[in-house]
Amino acid sequence: MSRERRLPLVLALAAAVVGVLAVASPRAEAELQVGFYNATCPIAEGVVFAEMHAILHEDPTLAPSLLRMHYHDCFVQGCDGSIMLRSRRGTAERDATPNRSMRGYDAIERIKARLETLCPLTVSCADIIAMAARDAVYLSKGPWYGVETGRRDGNVTVAEYAENDLAPPDSNIVDVKTFFSVKSLTAKDIVVLFGSHSIGTSHCEAFRKRLYNFTGAMDQDPSLDARYARQLRKLCPRRGGGRGRRAKVPMDPGSGFTFDLSYYRHVLATGGLFQSDGSLLHDPATRGYVERMANASSPDEYYQDFAAAMVKMGRTDVLPDSLGEVRATCGVFVD
Ligand code: HEM
Ligand SMILES: *[C@@H]1O[C@H](CO)[C@@H](O)[C@H](O)[C@H]1NC(C)=O
Ligand SMILES: *[C@@H]1O[C@H](CO)[C@@H](O)[C@H](O)[C@H]1NC(C)=O
Ligand SMILES: *[C@@H]1O[C@H](CO)[C@@H](O)[C@H](O)[C@H]1NC(C)=O
Ligand SMILES: *[C@@H]1O[C@H](CO)[C@@H](O)[C@H](O)[C@H]1NC(C)=O
Ligand SMILES: *[C@@H]1O[C@H](CO)[C@@H](O)[C@H](O)[C@H]1NC(C)=O
Repeated sequence: MSRERRLPLVLALAAAVVGVLAVASPRAEAELQVGFYNATCPIAEGVVFAEMHAILHEDPTLAPSLLRMHYHDCFVQGCDGSIMLRSRRGTAERDATPNRSMRGYDAIERIKARLETLCPLTVSCADIIAMAARDAVYLSKGPWYGVETGRRDGNVTVAEYAENDLAPPDSNIVDVKTFFSVKSLTAKDIVVLFGSHSIGTSHCEAFRKRLYNFTGAMDQDPSLDARYARQLRKLCPRRGGGRGRRAKVPMDPGSGFTFDLSYYRHVLATGGLFQSDGSLLHDPATRGYVERMANASSPDEYYQDFAAAMVKMGRTDVLPDSLGEVRATCGVFVD
C-alpha cells in the first residue's frame, strides 16, 4: 500500500521540478489547459460546438475530415494551425500529397469568423481545430473529453514537411511506430488513435495497389480477406482515371459514421482497408489491443484511452508563446 501511495508524490515532485525548469527556459512550450479561455473568451467552446453542430447538420461527411485535420496539423510542425495557411506558389502543407482529400478548411474559417466577432484575436486556429475534432467525435456518437487549449498559431508552412511527417497508408508496423515515436506517441497511442478510422471514407488510390499490384507482379495483398478484397475491387476499378479517381469507400463498412469499436472488428476480420490498419495485427502489443476491443462488451475503456491519446497528440510540439500568434484569419497567404 505504501509503495502505491508514495510513487505519485515522487512523480509530483519530479513534475514540479521539471515545471519550474520549463518556465525558466525561454523556449518553454505554451501551457495547455482545459478551459484556457475561461477568463478571456468563456463562450469559446460553446461557440465551436454550436457551429460544429450546424456544420455537420449541413454536411455530416465533414466530421471525419475535421478529426483527420487535427492529426495532420499536429504531426506537421506541431499543433500550430499551419495546415490552414495558403501559398501562392503551391508550397504549403495544404498543397502536399496527403492533403488531396482534406476537407473542412471552410468550416474552420467559419468558426474562426464567428469567434472573431465575439472575442477578437483571442482563440487560436490550432485550438479551433482541436475543439472541432473533439466535437466531431462526440457528434459521431463517440466520447466527450476535456480538450486542452492554449495553443498559438505558426505562420510557417512547408509542403515537404507534410510528405515527411505523415506515414503513408502502405506503411508496415515498423514504419508506423517510427513516425509516431518521433512525436512521442507509443504503440498503445497508435492502436488507440487508429480507431479514428472508425469514421470516414477513403479514395481508392490510397489502397488500390493492395488489390491489383501488391508486389509489382499484378498480385493481391495476401493479408487482405478475399471476400473483402472482392468487394473493394468492385468499388475501385483497376484504372483510377475518370470516375474511378473520385470513388470513395467507407473505412469501417457498415458503421462509417459512428465512432465505435467496429473498426477493430473490421481490422481483425479483414486485414483493414490500408496496410497501416492491417499492420496493427503484426505486433503483439497492438494486436492484443485490437483483439480485446474487437470483443469488448462496452466501449468505455476505449473511449477513455481515446480521450487520453487525443489529449497527448494535441500537445505535440505546441509553439512557445513568443513564437506563435493569434491572427484574425486562419488561412492567410504566407508566400
Ligand atoms: C499511419 C497513420 C495513418 C495513415 C497512413 C492514415 C491514412 C489515411 C488515409 C489514406 C485516409 C483516406 C483519405 C482519403 O483518401 O480521403 C485517411 C482518412 C482518415 N484518417 Fe487517417 N491515417 C493515419 C492516422 C490517422 C490518425 C492518427 C487519425 C486521427 C487521430 C486519423 C483519422 C482519419 C480520419 C477520421 C479519416 C477520414 C477522413 C474523411 O472521411 O474525410 N488517421 N487516413
Ligand atoms: C475552466 O473551467 C472549467 C469548468 O469550471 C474547469 O474545469 C477548468 O479547470 C477551468 N480552467 C481554467 C484554466 O481555469
Ligand atoms: C492540395 O494540393 C493540390 C496539389 O498541389 C492543390 O491543387 C489543391 O488545391 C490542394 N487542396 C486544398 C484543399 O488546398
Ligand atoms: C511570423 O510570426 C513571427 C512571430 O509572431 C513574426 O515575427 C514574423 O514576422 C511572422 N512572419 C510572417 C511571414 O508573417
Ligand atoms: C505494377 O507494379 C510494377 C512495380 O512497381 C510496375 O512496374 C508496373 O508498371 C505495375 N503495373 C501496373 C499495371 O500498374
Ligand atoms: C470474446 O468474449 C467472449 C465472452 O466474453 C469469450 O467467450 C470469447 O472467448 C472472447 N473471444 C476472444 C477472441 O477473445
